[in-house]
Amino acid sequence: MTRLTPTDLKIRIALPKGRMASRALEIFADAGIPVPSDVNTRKLQISVEGHDIIYLMVKPQDVPVYVEYGTADVGVAGKDTILESDVDVYDALDLGFGKCRMVLAGPRGKTQESTSELPFFRLATKYPRIAERYFAAKGLPVEIIGLGGSVELACSCGLADRIVDLVETGRTLAQNGLVEMETLFHSSARLIVNRASHKIRNEGVRDILERLKGTRS
Ligand code: PRP
Repeated sequence: MTRLTPTDLKIRIALPKGRMASRALEIFADAGIPVPSDVNTRKLQISVEGHDIIYLMVKPQDVPVYVEYGTADVGVAGKDTILESDVDVYDALDLGFGKCRMVLAGPRGKTQESTSELPFFRLATKYPRIAERYFAAKGLPVEIIGLGGSVELACSCGLADRIVDLVETGRTLAQNGLVEMETLFHSSARLIVNRASHKIRNEGVRDILERLKGTRS
Protein backbone atom coordinates (compact mmCIF):
# COMPACT_ATOMS: atom_id res chain seq x y z
CA MET A 1 0.00 0.00 0.00
CA THR A 2 2.94 2.33 0.52
CA ARG A 3 4.92 3.98 -2.27
CA LEU A 4 7.92 4.76 -0.17
CA THR A 5 11.33 3.61 -1.33
CA PRO A 6 14.57 3.71 0.66
CA THR A 7 15.99 6.33 -1.75
CA ASP A 8 13.01 8.65 -1.32
CA LEU A 9 14.16 10.55 1.73
CA LYS A 10 11.84 13.53 1.67
CA ILE A 11 9.09 13.62 4.28
CA ARG A 12 5.70 14.51 2.80
CA ILE A 13 3.14 16.19 5.02
CA ALA A 14 -0.50 16.48 3.90
CA LEU A 15 -2.29 19.55 5.21
CA PRO A 16 -6.00 20.36 4.97
CA LYS A 17 -6.29 23.52 2.86
CA GLY A 18 -7.78 26.53 4.63
CA ARG A 19 -7.98 27.57 8.27
CA MET A 20 -6.76 24.24 9.63
CA ALA A 21 -3.57 24.39 7.53
CA SER A 22 -2.73 27.87 8.86
CA ARG A 23 -3.20 26.74 12.46
CA ALA A 24 -1.23 23.53 11.86
CA LEU A 25 1.68 25.48 10.33
CA GLU A 26 1.79 27.79 13.36
CA ILE A 27 2.07 24.74 15.61
CA PHE A 28 4.70 23.14 13.36
CA ALA A 29 6.76 26.36 13.35
CA ASP A 30 6.52 26.62 17.16
CA ALA A 31 7.82 23.05 17.34
CA GLY A 32 10.81 23.92 15.16
CA ILE A 33 9.60 21.99 12.13
CA PRO A 34 10.54 23.77 8.87
CA VAL A 35 7.51 25.39 7.23
CA PRO A 36 7.16 27.18 3.90
CA SER A 37 7.35 30.97 3.93
CA ASP A 38 4.18 31.31 1.86
CA VAL A 39 1.24 28.93 1.54
CA ASN A 40 -1.08 31.51 -0.01
CA THR A 41 -0.38 30.25 -3.48
CA ARG A 42 -2.16 27.98 -5.94
CA LYS A 43 0.76 25.54 -5.72
CA LEU A 44 -0.43 22.31 -4.16
CA GLN A 45 3.01 20.84 -3.52
CA ILE A 46 5.26 23.18 -1.57
CA SER A 47 8.90 22.42 -0.81
CA VAL A 48 10.76 24.04 2.05
CA GLU A 49 14.06 25.37 0.77
CA GLY A 50 17.06 23.67 2.32
CA HIS A 51 14.97 20.94 4.00
CA ASP A 52 13.74 17.49 3.02
CA ILE A 53 10.11 18.34 3.69
CA ILE A 54 7.32 18.76 1.15
CA TYR A 55 3.85 19.97 2.09
CA LEU A 56 0.89 18.66 0.09
CA MET A 57 -2.12 20.99 0.22
CA VAL A 58 -5.24 18.82 -0.10
CA LYS A 59 -8.97 18.94 0.62
CA PRO A 60 -9.54 18.23 4.34
CA GLN A 61 -11.47 15.02 3.65
CA ASP A 62 -8.65 13.73 1.42
CA VAL A 63 -5.83 13.98 4.00
CA PRO A 64 -6.47 10.50 5.51
CA VAL A 65 -6.45 8.95 2.02
CA TYR A 66 -3.05 10.48 1.15
CA VAL A 67 -1.65 9.20 4.43
CA GLU A 68 -3.17 5.72 4.20
CA TYR A 69 -1.63 5.20 0.74
CA GLY A 70 1.75 6.56 1.84
CA THR A 71 1.75 9.42 -0.66
CA ALA A 72 2.08 11.52 2.47
CA ASP A 73 3.99 10.16 5.48
CA VAL A 74 2.21 12.45 7.90
CA GLY A 75 -1.02 14.46 7.81
CA VAL A 76 -3.25 16.73 9.82
CA ALA A 77 -6.94 15.80 9.92
CA GLY A 78 -9.95 16.19 12.17
CA LYS A 79 -10.99 13.11 14.15
CA ASP A 80 -14.38 13.41 12.39
CA THR A 81 -12.73 13.18 8.96
CA ILE A 82 -10.55 10.25 10.03
CA LEU A 83 -13.53 8.27 11.34
CA GLU A 84 -15.65 9.04 8.28
CA SER A 85 -12.80 8.01 5.95
CA ASP A 86 -12.52 4.63 7.67
CA VAL A 87 -8.78 4.52 6.93
CA ASP A 88 -6.00 2.49 8.51
CA VAL A 89 -3.56 5.13 9.76
CA TYR A 90 -1.73 5.70 13.03
CA ASP A 91 -3.58 8.41 14.99
CA ALA A 92 -0.42 9.68 16.68
CA LEU A 93 -1.22 12.92 18.44
CA ASP A 94 -4.02 15.27 19.43
CA LEU A 95 -2.89 18.68 18.18
CA GLY A 96 -5.35 20.44 20.48
CA PHE A 97 -7.14 22.70 18.03
CA GLY A 98 -10.29 22.39 15.93
CA LYS A 99 -12.20 21.18 18.97
CA CYS A 100 -15.84 20.32 18.36
CA ARG A 101 -18.26 17.45 18.92
CA MET A 102 -20.32 15.18 16.70
CA VAL A 103 -23.92 15.25 17.85
CA LEU A 104 -27.36 13.91 17.12
CA ALA A 105 -29.79 16.85 17.00
CA GLY A 106 -33.45 17.41 16.30
CA PRO A 107 -36.03 20.20 16.11
CA ARG A 108 -36.68 22.02 19.39
CA GLY A 109 -39.99 20.81 20.83
CA LYS A 110 -39.95 17.56 18.85
CA THR A 111 -37.25 15.67 20.70
CA GLN A 112 -39.31 14.43 23.67
CA GLU A 113 -39.41 10.93 22.23
CA SER A 114 -35.98 9.39 22.51
CA THR A 115 -34.69 8.29 19.15
CA SER A 116 -35.05 4.64 20.16
CA GLU A 117 -38.80 5.18 20.58
CA LEU A 118 -39.23 6.35 17.01
CA PRO A 119 -40.29 3.42 14.81
CA PHE A 120 -38.22 4.76 11.92
CA PHE A 121 -36.66 8.06 11.06
CA ARG A 122 -34.79 9.95 8.41
CA LEU A 123 -31.45 11.40 9.29
CA ALA A 124 -29.45 13.95 7.28
CA THR A 125 -25.68 14.19 7.61
CA LYS A 126 -22.36 14.93 5.94
CA TYR A 127 -21.04 11.86 7.79
CA PRO A 128 -23.05 8.86 6.52
CA ARG A 129 -20.51 6.21 7.62
CA ILE A 130 -20.28 7.56 11.16
CA ALA A 131 -24.07 7.80 11.40
CA GLU A 132 -24.58 4.35 9.95
CA ARG A 133 -22.14 2.74 12.41
CA TYR A 134 -23.67 4.62 15.33
CA PHE A 135 -27.23 3.51 14.64
CA ALA A 136 -26.25 -0.01 13.58
CA ALA A 137 -24.55 -0.44 16.99
CA LYS A 138 -27.80 0.64 18.64
CA GLY A 139 -29.82 -1.66 16.38
CA LEU A 140 -32.00 1.23 15.20
CA PRO A 141 -33.40 1.38 11.67
CA VAL A 142 -32.64 4.69 10.00
CA GLU A 143 -32.73 6.11 6.52
CA ILE A 144 -29.57 8.16 6.03
CA ILE A 145 -29.67 11.10 3.64
CA GLY A 146 -26.15 12.19 2.68
CA LEU A 147 -25.74 15.94 2.18
CA GLY A 148 -22.80 18.21 1.32
CA GLY A 149 -23.45 20.93 3.92
CA SER A 150 -26.06 23.19 5.59
CA VAL A 151 -27.32 20.02 7.24
CA GLU A 152 -29.32 21.93 9.86
CA LEU A 153 -31.61 23.14 7.09
CA ALA A 154 -32.66 19.56 6.32
CA CYS A 155 -34.20 19.29 9.77
CA SER A 156 -35.71 22.75 9.97
CA CYS A 157 -37.43 22.42 6.61
CA GLY A 158 -38.63 18.85 7.07
CA LEU A 159 -36.33 16.83 4.83
CA ALA A 160 -35.14 14.85 7.85
CA ASP A 161 -36.28 14.14 11.44
CA ARG A 162 -32.78 14.27 12.90
CA ILE A 163 -29.26 15.28 11.91
CA VAL A 164 -25.80 14.10 12.83
CA ASP A 165 -23.36 16.98 12.52
CA LEU A 166 -20.46 18.82 14.10
CA VAL A 167 -21.10 21.44 16.74
CA GLU A 168 -18.54 23.98 17.83
CA THR A 169 -20.25 27.02 19.36
CA GLY A 170 -23.81 25.67 18.98
CA ARG A 171 -24.91 28.83 17.15
CA THR A 172 -25.90 27.11 13.91
CA LEU A 173 -28.14 24.64 15.75
CA ALA A 174 -29.75 27.38 17.86
CA GLN A 175 -30.35 29.71 14.93
CA ASN A 176 -32.09 26.93 13.03
CA GLY A 177 -34.36 25.83 15.86
CA LEU A 178 -32.50 22.63 16.71
CA VAL A 179 -31.26 21.15 19.98
CA GLU A 180 -28.54 18.64 20.82
CA MET A 181 -29.79 15.20 21.87
CA GLU A 182 -26.73 12.96 22.12
CA THR A 183 -22.97 13.37 21.73
CA LEU A 184 -21.41 10.71 19.50
CA PHE A 185 -17.78 11.75 20.18
CA HIS A 186 -15.48 14.72 20.70
CA SER A 187 -13.27 15.76 17.80
CA SER A 188 -10.06 17.76 17.32
CA ALA A 189 -7.21 18.02 14.84
CA ARG A 190 -4.89 14.99 14.91
CA LEU A 191 -1.48 14.21 13.55
CA ILE A 192 -1.85 11.00 11.58
CA VAL A 193 1.02 8.89 10.29
CA ASN A 194 1.24 6.27 7.56
CA ARG A 195 1.85 2.92 9.27
CA ALA A 196 4.79 1.95 7.03
CA SER A 197 6.38 5.41 7.28
CA HIS A 198 6.18 5.15 11.02
CA LYS A 199 8.43 2.07 10.86
CA ILE A 200 10.59 2.58 7.74
CA ARG A 201 11.32 6.29 8.02
CA ASN A 202 11.60 6.23 11.70
CA GLU A 203 14.07 9.07 12.04
CA GLY A 204 12.37 11.90 10.14
CA VAL A 205 8.85 10.96 11.19
CA ARG A 206 9.88 10.37 14.79
CA ASP A 207 11.57 13.76 14.88
CA ILE A 208 8.35 15.48 13.75
CA LEU A 209 6.34 13.49 16.30
CA GLU A 210 8.71 14.18 19.17
CA ARG A 211 8.89 17.90 18.41
CA LEU A 212 5.10 18.19 18.30
CA LYS A 213 4.68 16.10 21.45
CA GLY A 214 7.14 18.47 23.13
CA THR A 215 4.87 21.43 22.42
CA ARG A 216 1.84 19.55 23.78
CA SER A 217 3.29 18.68 27.17
C1 PRP B 1 -20.01 23.29 10.41
C2 PRP B 1 -20.94 22.22 10.95
C3 PRP B 1 -22.09 23.03 11.47
C4 PRP B 1 -21.41 24.29 11.98
C5 PRP B 1 -21.25 24.19 13.48
O1 PRP B 1 -20.46 23.70 9.17
O2 PRP B 1 -21.32 21.30 9.94
O3 PRP B 1 -23.00 23.34 10.46
O4 PRP B 1 -20.11 24.35 11.36
O5 PRP B 1 -20.61 25.34 14.01
P1 PRP B 1 -21.22 26.13 15.26
O6 PRP B 1 -21.64 25.12 16.28
O7 PRP B 1 -20.08 26.99 15.74
O8 PRP B 1 -22.37 26.95 14.76
P2 PRP B 1 -19.58 24.51 8.15
O9 PRP B 1 -19.32 25.88 8.66
O10 PRP B 1 -18.36 23.71 7.83
O11 PRP B 1 -20.53 24.65 6.88
P3 PRP B 1 -21.41 23.55 6.11
O12 PRP B 1 -22.61 23.27 6.95
O13 PRP B 1 -21.79 24.20 4.84
O14 PRP B 1 -20.56 22.34 5.91
